[in-house]
Amino acid sequence: MCGIVGAVSGTDITNILINGLERLEYRGYDSAGVYITDGEHDTLIKKAGKIVNLKEAINDRQLGNSGIGHTRWATHGQPSEANAHPHFSQDHRFYLVHNGVLENTESLKETYLSNVSFASTTDTEVIVQLVDYFVCHEKLAVFVAFEKVLSLIKGSYAIALMDRQQPEQIMIAKNKSPLLIGVGDKANFIASDAAAVLEQTHTFMAIADGERGVITKDKIQLFDAQDQKVNHKTYEVKLDSSDLSLGAYDSYMSKEIDEQPAVLRRILKHYFPDQQLKINNQLLQQIAASDRIYIVAAGTSWHAGLVGKQLFEDLTDIPVEVQLASEFGYHLPKLSAKPFFIFLSQSGETADSRQVLVELKKLHKLTLTITNVENSTLAREADYSLALKAGPEIAVASTKAYIAQIAVEAILAKAVGENLHLTTAQSFDVQQQLSLAASAIQTLIDKKDLIEQLAATYFDNQESAFFIGRGNGYYLALEASLKLKEVSYVHSEGFAAGELKHGTIALIEQDTPVIGFVVEEKTAELTRGNIQEAASRGANTLIISTEKLQQKQDQLVIADLDEHILPIAAIVPAQLLAYYVAKKRGNNVDQPRNLAKSVTVE
Ligand code: F6R
Repeated sequence: MCGIVGAVSGTDITNILINGLERLEYRGYDSAGVYITDGEHDTLIKKAGKIVNLKEAINDRQLGNSGIGHTRWATHGQPSEANAHPHFSQDHRFYLVHNGVLENTESLKETYLSNVSFASTTDTEVIVQLVDYFVCHEKLAVFVAFEKVLSLIKGSYAIALMDRQQPEQIMIAKNKSPLLIGVGDKANFIASDAAAVLEQTHTFMAIADGERGVITKDKIQLFDAQDQKVNHKTYEVKLDSSDLSLGAYDSYMSKEIDEQPAVLRRILKHYFPDQQLKINNQLLQQIAASDRIYIVAAGTSWHAGLVGKQLFEDLTDIPVEVQLASEFGYHLPKLSAKPFFIFLSQSGETADSRQVLVELKKLHKLTLTITNVENSTLAREADYSLALKAGPEIAVASTKAYIAQIAVEAILAKAVGENLHLTTAQSFDVQQQLSLAASAIQTLIDKKDLIEQLAATYFDNQESAFFIGRGNGYYLALEASLKLKEVSYVHSEGFAAGELKHGTIALIEQDTPVIGFVVEEKTAELTRGNIQEAASRGANTLIISTEKLQQKQDQLVIADLDEHILPIAAIVPAQLLAYYVAKKRGNNVDQPRNLAKSVTVE
């Protein structure tokens, strides 16, 4: 949700900011802007729409050696040029970019800024006008004024502030929203995500909530909320910037779908070096000693958590609850006596999940984050973290992270079960199953043409669809439905197959696509019955089944896998369907409307 990038260097940084914003575009893409200065001249350019509009306006000019940029996902104030960041003070001395949401701007406006005429309708502009107010009216030094503003504002923020009178520095602050410092050679950078500046540096420094500081090209100074200097160790991000490029693909979504077999192999290599399962033993013991596992997540990650429930329960014998982060944190149920919490998050930055983690830490509960971004906030703040190893996921619609989450849950469940000496876990050959899943996915990817045809047959001229299934088939239906609606904008519902007849079947009309997952032996016939009920009312039904359960009318058949692992492969036809329906409708599959990849507001 909104991406920030900034650079202070001895040489021109215009392209660094533009490239950085392009890398961050997944975080929001309704408007973008930069403020860049060469010390004598400064330039503010803001454009509604995507970064390409900003790029055109810059027109290859070199605008200076320091600056800040922002790509926006609107929270307060509609998407427009005026509401795009950077925002500036009335006297055009201060420029500021912000990611987050403030809660008390109205009262701050009333108290301090009643004489200011605002150029935008954003909460962000209040911050920059307040800095100006304290500098001009209370004659505070700029950094002191900035700190005073930080003490007044409530909410989440990652902020970068520039003062045109001190063009060689950027002031920064962070609370709940992500912000990193990239440490360069005679240049330093800030970014919401390391990917933004990977071409400049692989060395990063995290900033903790409540910290603020100043960066110049050769110096980084950070202070905590009590004004004490803080020194953070740097860490290396091993990603290669080529991991972030499209190569020959027309979209990241299609590239990331295709990468899935390789992702599974990478996960196996990571968790089974020398063929031996390797996970921190203390983590395994602590999960094994718990009386209940709570999986907390949002969106697609929540769907992966639902699949994980069966895995953990069957392999570890520990009861599992899967919770939506946005609900759980504010409605904590009565927890069991020895709970263990697992956070699933591709980005590791989701504000809804983070809020729960913060609450649980206050209660001294044990936590693990399973994430694709190894130094992300959730990874740093949980007691333990495990890597998804999916590689950067750039398309807003999650695909490879979903299958990676199920794979890592399976590996972890087996490891915990073995720790408990359970024979179900001992006999579960997760390595073999994940290898088979990789081959099954490859076979499905090789059938892309068929899936493209099915997308046209079922979805041309249709504006509503239903995905149904039982057990893991139901959880697959939820994920398949989310995939379709977020990229194609076709209204869609994921339903427990048996529930359709309790009301929703009223929505089935002639030719409504109903996609059924028949992937569970014990409910296969019942699910087929439910699909038939829809067909009898005019639905155009499409069945995804497995070799073992297949019948001749089934359009897509997945190779047989252990039922716990099957969702990893069975989701792939649905990912491809969503992709082809969206593509045929001319949608931007990587950046669907109204969405952002990393949802850092609650
Ligand atoms: C959908 C999608 C979202 C995310 C959700 C949680 O394709 O990607 O539903 O799964 O926003 O994000 P993470 O996993 O980063 O916590």
